[in-house]
Amino acid sequence: MTTMSTELEAQWMPFTANRAFKRAPRLLVRAKGMHYTTVDGRQVLDGTAGLWCVNAGHCREPIVEAIAASARELDYAPGFQLGHPAAFELANRLSELLPGDIDRVFFTGSGSESVDTALKIALAYHNARGDSQRVRLVGRQRGYHGVGFGGISVGGIENNRRAFASQLLPAVDHIRHTHDLARNSFSRGLPPHGAEFADDLERVIAEHGAGTIAAVIVEPMAGSTGVLLPPVGYLQRLRELCDRHGILLIFDEVITGFGRVGGAFAANVVGVTPDLITMAKGFTNGAVPMGAVGVRRGVYDAVMEGSPSGIELFHGYTYSGHPLASAAGLATLDIYASEGLFERAASLAPYWEDAVHELRSAPGVIDVRNWGLVAGIELEPRTGAPGTRGNDAFIRNFERGILIRVTGDTIALSPPLIIEKAEIDELVGVLGEVLTEVAKSGR
Ligand SMILES: Cc1ncc(COP(=O)(O)O)c(C=O)c1O
Repeated sequence: MTTMSTELEAQWMPFTANRAFKRAPRLLVRAKGMHYTTVDGRQVLDGTAGLWCVNAGHCREPIVEAIAASARELDYAPGFQLGHPAAFELANRLSELLPGDIDRVFFTGSGSESVDTALKIALAYHNARGDSQRVRLVGRQRGYHGVGFGGISVGGIENNRRAFASQLLPAVDHIRHTHDLARNSFSRGLPPHGAEFADDLERVIAEHGAGTIAAVIVEPMAGSTGVLLPPVGYLQRLRELCDRHGILLIFDEVITGFGRVGGAFAANVVGVTPDLITMAKGFTNGAVPMGAVGVRRGVYDAVMEGSPSGIELFHGYTYSGHPLASAAGLATLDIYASEGLFERAASLAPYWEDAVHELRSAPGVIDVRNWGLVAGIELEPRTGAPGTRGNDAFIRNFERGILIRVTGDTIALSPPLIIEKAEIDELVGVLGEVLTEVAKSGR
């Protein structure tokens, strides 16, 4: 395929400035290990694991083979009133990784579907227990929970809601976000200040009454809005408040799951067990779309008991537990285990931390923060032109053979967990040079 813009017109691209992209496209045609290959044959070091999903590196043979074998043997199987072994096996394997008594798994096709599923399970749980006045959902400012109506309602990103504001879910509140540059800038690992931000939930409780609140949903670490970390003790405090008031706690681990922060899930790493965990992305190493919701035994049991016969939960997707996705998931979990990639992320984290904090002295950098194999590098917005410095950095890095991700003026780095130290040095080295170029050019 050439890059002539007329050939690019038909696809309405997601979360993309379509007109700008089609004037100057960036097309990827191949991937292997840590690298993409562009349509013009350039190698690009993947500093973002695609979109936070390719945790085991690209085009891993066992995953490719598992998908191909499944496509030949069982291309599709209905998941309603029928099943197939790989989906059950995957649920069992996943329940071993999930923290605490989260051992029931509902399959979806994406992170957005996982979020909507989790919100619906929360409502169904209270309903099944005869607590049907608990309908209110609480999200967090600057949260990202995908693009379904449920997800954008509990999400806290104004741009994602503006055009649809008239039709969002009605009973939703948002607690404050956890970003506090004044006290926590250049923190290493989880920031020390801000556990008390969790207490903002008490404001919502005071306003509406705890008995109206079904669930609180937060990302343990907000990735899409610029790597906003949970202060030390914050998630514990949220858990305590939810316990005290009978509110379910949902961790959206679509990006923090599968080793990203140095353990199976962020919940395992911080030692806080939520009632539900949403996941996707790294579940199949990004190779086949798949998501899931991990559910605590007691929540599942309550929904079962609330419906003594027939279908217990009127919810599901044509592609829930899809055979190809299940095969990819099993092969992915095998790689994570056999190569010890979650542990690798944890053991590489100190090297990663030192490397990314070297960017502190690069021009325009106002914060560097990190957790596991994630880093956020926040840049000073240009006067009157927020986001342009970040976008320039993205484009120039891509031209220099480095893939980064930007949200406004914050750079997010989240490489595949197989990254080598020399590649960390390359990533950070090029990024530092680019930030200097960007500062000089003003472009
Ligand atoms: C925390 C979180 N939740 C949900 C989603 C949505 O996932 P998907 O794009 O697979 O629908 C994302 C995607 O980045 C995410 O980061």
